[in-house]
Amino acid sequence: MIFAEKRQLRIPGPTPIPPQILRAGAQPMMGHRSGDFVELCKRVAAKVKTVFQTENDVFILTSSGTGALEAAVANTVSPGDQVLVLVSGVFGERFVKIANAYGAQVETIRCQFGHAIDPQTVTDALVKKPEIKVVFATHCETSTGVVNDLEKIAEAVHSSLGDPLLVVDTVSSMGGIEFKTDKWGIDLVVSGSQKAFMLPPGLAFIGVSDRSWDIIEANQSPRFYFDLRAYRKSLPKGQTPFTPAVSLFYQLEEALAMMEAEGFANIYQRHLLMRDMVRAAVRALGLPLFVAEDNNASATVTSILGPQGLDVEALRKLLNQKYKLVLAGGQADLKGKIFRIGHMGFAEPIDMLTVLATLELGLVELGWKLEGGAAVRAAEEVLVRG
Ligand SMILES: Cc1ncc(COP(=O)(O)O)c(C=O)c1O
Repeated sequence: MIFAEKRQLRIPGPTPIPPQILRAGAQPMMGHRSGDFVELCKRVAAKVKTVFQTENDVFILTSSGTGALEAAVANTVSPGDQVLVLVSGVFGERFVKIANAYGAQVETIRCQFGHAIDPQTVTDALVKKPEIKVVFATHCETSTGVVNDLEKIAEAVHSSLGDPLLVVDTVSSMGGIEFKTDKWGIDLVVSGSQKAFMLPPGLAFIGVSDRSWDIIEANQSPRFYFDLRAYRKSLPKGQTPFTPAVSLFYQLEEALAMMEAEGFANIYQRHLLMRDMVRAAVRALGLPLFVAEDNNASATVTSILGPQGLDVEALRKLLNQKYKLVLAGGQADLKGKIFRIGHMGFAEPIDMLTVLATLELGLVELGWKLEGGAAVRAAEEVLVRG
């Protein structure tokens, strides 16, 4: 095979890594208690707040995204507490599982997968149960490609009598879709390194609002590695409580510099453009979009429903083996039913044309009837219009 290492990784994380970020990771190791690390840690901790649009502290954990989800639960939920989880897919379910593991009494609002949570249902649930202490929500539900309206959900939460804490998973949106932590009043914001941040897996982020600290201090759940009180003590000293993934901190600094250079408005626009190109192309192919409503469609991942007669797993296998294009399948109940195109981080509109042309080739080889070039043409039209 020529160019055996060349691969188009278009899954919704981990995502491809820019060469300068790869190089940054190859810098010589430094001691994590050294003055150099202290400076590095202070620089990245200050800059990452810009991405989160917050004045709150954002702690950098050495863990996958789920570690930060667990940190959010372990620090805000005591056994027996009533919590509300908004479930629009697999990652909402993950909050349910973690909250159950910590002994919470879990209420859920579940929407049909492919749809977004209706903020009115949040208002209604909180009127019925004002004792709810924490609400857990997912911004981009990676398993379906829906983006939930966190501005409206936050309004519903904060205008309720109990005004519970609001915890939001932004693992597959932060840095790709605008998220206004302070303006919307989000208390705990969780994210991960391996998606729109253009980094390898291994770092997670958690922003914490001032009003969360009383609850965190008083919380009764056992916690050690993820005890946010320890991270709070270390941060002003440019430290982390335990040995951090130092190389990922080098890479984070490079990623933040790249993001700053591009400009956040441009980054969000680039992601929206990729979404619109992919959606126009999928429509031109006559394939059903799993998220029918454009307004609810994520700018970082698009899910496509396999219509009758199309074996989506066979399609993914063919694209991977023959063309080295890696797309994601469905998760849990959606396995075999949908496939997903990731378009976040180190991806630009022109890359989508290759993805879509390759997808067309795969579909034709599987006998799917289509007008050759239709997907690329539709995407190009969106690209030209900008
Ligand atoms: C929305 C969302 N939340 C949480 C996670 C879990 O992150 P990790 O796999 O890094 O633990 C993912 C991973 O895909 C995700 O997309």
